[in-house]
Formats: sequence, structure tokens, C-alpha cells
Amino acid sequence: MKNIGVFTSGGDAPGMNACIRAVVRTALHLDIRPFGIRYGYEGMIEGDIFEMNARSVSNIIQAGGTILVSARSQAFKTKKGRAEAIDNLKRFGIEGLVAIGGDGTIQGAEKLCNESDIKVVVCPGTIDNDIYGTDYTIGFNTAINTALDAIDKIRDTAGAMDRLFLVEVMGRHSGFIALDVAIAGGAEGVLVPEENKGDLSNVYEVLEEGIKKGKRTNIIVVAEGDEMGGAEALAADLLKKFGIKSWVTVLGHIQRGGSPTARDRILASKLGSASVKALNKAKSGIMIGEVNGDITHTSFRDAYKKKKQLRKDELDLINILAN
Ligand code: ADP
Ligand code: F6P
Repeated sequence: MKNIGVFTSGGDAPGMNACIRAVVRTALHLDIRPFGIRYGYEGMIEGDIFEMNARSVSNIIQAGGTILVSARSQAFKTKKGRAEAIDNLKRFGIEGLVAIGGDGTIQGAEKLCNESDIKVVVCPGTIDNDIYGTDYTIGFNTAINTALDAIDKIRDTAGAMDRLFLVEVMGRHSGFIALDVAIAGGAEGVLVPEENKGDLSNVYEVLEEGIKKGKRTNIIVVAEGDEMGGAEALAADLLKKFGIKSWVTVLGHIQRGGSPTARDRILASKLGSASVKALNKAKSGIMIGEVNGDITHTSFRDAYKKKKQLRKDELDLINILAN
């Protein structure tokens, strides 16, 4: 393999830069010319492609965001758009591609594989951690630590004024961020899309039990994809159905930014490097993951179709420890 391309796609995640750096430097190590593609699939269609060298990725390992910028592309969802993208990749002699992104990016990568002879592998990069075939995705660890920092601060003010706080975290349709943040932040409860089906009685029970035990402050972590429709909707319902007043904090996009944690930098470095090695061995159509410390290859179809499960015992832990 002579030339490869690398791009970031979908929602950015801390650690994407560390992954780009690993891709570029591993490629150079293997005498492969690395090309950067800006703005994900959109830039591929526009031909926004440039050659990179070792210095293109200097001093970026600690930076959040992505130096290749990211985008969501409607045009790439059409066959015409993908044909234009493939023409541009051919123009630069690109034989292999490393995509860094989430499940949407994997679905796009599968189409690219099916419609051309270009080899494509994906490094899972999303704060949501909702991808089958890897214990963790790049960006998740930083996002939970960012959210945790906010929750610790909220606990101070909640404790100072005897208040119930509902803290909404990201995660799209999954509750991985909510669950980890709830355990680490010592939350009294958590609402995740995988479990909660819009029934508020368990939240009410948790709060009522807490009052009986002499608890004065409560933090409930709410996943944005929860059936209730987020923390604002939950607050309105709690007031209407049970007369309970609460304070809402929506953490939002701060969870996507910031300097990646050591864990995310290491994961990104390992996955980025392994992705180039896989391409160099003519592998294609796979997502590179890490399971129990080992590098794994998962077919695109399994990666976006199979559902990574939340651990029930970790959900139970919240109730036990909120005692
Ligand atoms: P993420 O990769 O973070 O899940 P998106 O779901 O927005 O983010 O996907 C990123 C991009 O991947 C989309 O904007 C689109 O260009 C491409 N993509 C997603 N799904 C498909 C699909 N079914 N076919 C072709 N391209 C897709
Ligand atoms: O997939 C990452 C993510 O941050 C989700 O947690 C969230 O639902 C979504 O992206 C937000 O997307 P946008 O940045 O386009 O508002």
C-alpha cells in the first residue's frame, strides 16, 4: 500500500487528534504516504485532501477537537456523492482509508467499501461509547471526567441548599455516559434509555426513600436519550405528578471538548496505529477495537448492528450505594 487517507467524521471526540497523529506516524514508519481529508465525507466529495508529514501532527496529542475538522454529510448518503468522493480519492492515488468516527461513519465506510476497491478501516471515535466490538470508544473517558467535574460542583451547591438536581448528560440513544457518571458522581439515581420506559414511579420511590433515611440532597443523572425526553421534561413531570421541585442542569457540548485524558490518548494511539497496520496487511471492512486490552477486528455490519449492552449489575450498584 503506497498512499492512505485519514479523516474524522460525525460528532468530534477528545482523542481524535491523538488518533490522527498515530495514523500519520505509523504510516510514515511503514513507508506509506499519509493524506489528510478535511470535513469528513463532505471534504472527500469536495476534494479537500492534502499530503501530511510527521510535522503536520506535532503538538496535537493534548488537543481536543480535530485538526482535520469534522462534518455530517447528506451528500455522502447518495450514490452520486459517494461516486464523487471515490473519484477524488483515486485522483490522489489513495488505496486505503482510516475513518475516525461513530456508528454513522461506520455505515458510510461500509458503502465506500462496497462501491470501490479502496480498503477502509474505522477507529471508533465518539463520546457515546455506543459501539459494539470495543470496550471503550475514543473520547468517552474524557467526556465522563468532564461531566463528573461538573457533577461534583453541582453536589456542593445541592448540599448547601438542600436541593434536588437533575443533570442531563449526552449519549444520543445510549446510557453509557449517564451510567458511569452516575456511579462515579455518587448519584441517587440514573435514567437511561435502555431501562427507563417513561415510568417515573421508581424515581419518586428513590426520592421518598431518601427523605425517610434523612437525605437532604439528591442528584439524578438523566441521559439525553431517555424516554422522558431529557431533564427539563422530567422536572416538569416530577412537579406535576408528585409536587417535587427540582433544578435542572444540561451539560451539553462541554462534554465533547477539552484535553483528552491519558486513557483516551493511549486508546487513540493504539487504535490509530493498529488501523494502519491492518490496512498494510490488506484488511478492509473492519472496525479496530480494544477488548480486555487486546486489539480486535469487528466487521462493519456487526459494529453498527449489534448492540453493546449496559451492565445491569452496574445499574443496580447505583441503588445499593445511594442508600
Ligand atoms: P457518527 O459517525 O458520530 O455516528 P453521524 O451519524 O452523523 O455521526 O454519521 C457521520 C456521517 O456518516 C454522516 O453525516 C453521513 O455522511 C455518513 N453516513 C451515516 N450513515 C450513512 C449511511 N447509511 N450511508 C452512507 N453514509 C452514511
Ligand atoms: O454522538 C456524539 C454526540 O455528542 C451525542 O452525544 C449527541 O446526541 C450528539 O452528538 C449531538 O450532536 P450535535 O453536535 O450535532 O448537536
